[in-house]
Amino acid sequence: MEFRHLLVTGGAGFIGSNFVRRLLQARPGLRVTNLDALSYSGNLENLRDVERECGGHCYRFVEGDIGDARLVASLLAATPGGAEPVDAVVHFAAESHVDRSILGPEIFVQTNIAGTTNLLERCRNELAERPRPFRFLHVSTDEVYGSLDADDPAFAEDTPLAPRSPYSASKAGSDLMVAAYAETFGFPAVTTRCSNNYGPYQYPEKLIPLMIVRALAGLSLPVYGDGLNVRDWIHVDDHCDGVLAVLERGRDGCCYNLGGETELRNIDIVRRILSLLDRPETLIEYVTDRPGHDRRYAMNIGRANAELGWAPALEFGAGLERTVAWYVDNRAWWEPLLDASSEVIRRLYAR
Ligand code: NAD
Ligand code: DAU
Repeated sequence: MEFRHLLVTGGAGFIGSNFVRRLLQARPGLRVTNLDALSYSGNLENLRDVERECGGHCYRFVEGDIGDARLVASLLAATPGGAEPVDAVVHFAAESHVDRSILGPEIFVQTNIAGTTNLLERCRNELAERPRPFRFLHVSTDEVYGSLDADDPAFAEDTPLAPRSPYSASKAGSDLMVAAYAETFGFPAVTTRCSNNYGPYQYPEKLIPLMIVRALAGLSLPVYGDGLNVRDWIHVDDHCDGVLAVLERGRDGCCYNLGGETELRNIDIVRRILSLLDRPETLIEYVTDRPGHDRRYAMNIGRANAELGWAPALEFGAGLERTVAWYVDNRAWWEPLLDASSEVIRRLYAR
């Protein structure tokens, strides 16, 4: 399928902003409307270059909530400057941090479940009034499948959902609403589920950027529990390419796992970051474990590979080096965020 005008939600966040930038380079002529509420992790600086180069013609930013029925309906119906109406929604907007969901689950239900349902319902109404080729891509996560033990096989798309944190439960709730719309209404939706992303513009509350900026600031690096939990890491560019492949060539009603096929223990990542920055391992501080801490994630990406020819391209070592260099070069981006991003650690993990 070819699209002319995408409504991207959460495009001022980490993955959404990388997606918008990459998309406008890969598909010149495409138009993007970016709807973002600018929560703590949304940042207009993430797309300053795009705004400069494309603002006004192929790109426009709208500040607003995905739960705002009137606003979403108007964006779907609008034809700004005579442009094509929106023919696809790529839905990134979410509350995205597990630790924050432990401190306050309600906003996760509000944004991730109610917000997603509002988007689905506004799209369904719009298509009933003005039928047209359309696709809704819902961006989800491997965390909806729960936690693996060391010898368990990787998650596949038919692995039963078994979320264990308020974050992953709210994402699973949104996945089920998307699946229900596809089944019940024949709504043209696809879902992606991806593993842990890293790369530029990631808010420094997630493991990799937090460890980089704290090491640069000479602060301790809080490693939860025994540091042996395993995540599968993927560079954000590879995730964005997977989302585009599913958007253009995925099957309606289908779900696609995306992952980096790079399983690593947290402590090994922290050590690699310290080594790249030439900082001492004495900065590492083992702290209380995360409540309900998932032990291991691993993704079987066979479906996306076989059907779409998609596979992650960037090797982790090269991607990590590039990411560390970006944070070294972009202090002005993260320094104002450092204090707020460490607040969660102070509240949950201080001994
Ligand atoms: P992020 O926190 O960096 O960005 C989220 C964006 O959503 C922010 O710009 C924020 O302002 C916006 N937002 C929040 N609530 C909103 C609302 N009510 N209305 C409009 N905008 C709102 O998150 P991210 O890491 O870029 O994740 C993006 C998506 O990808 C999420 O759906 C997340 O569940 C999913 N995902 C993330 C990862 C990862 O490793 N980061 C992996 C797999 C899937
Ligand atoms: O798997 C995909 C998910 O990855 C996404 O859906 C989420 O949006 C994203 O936040 C991420 O969730 P995780 O909980 O896996 O990521 P986080 O970066 O918070 O933690 C990664 C691992 O590192 C986890 O085992 C907890 C540990 N950790 C994390 C932080 C922030 C630490 O040991 N210390 C820390 O300070």
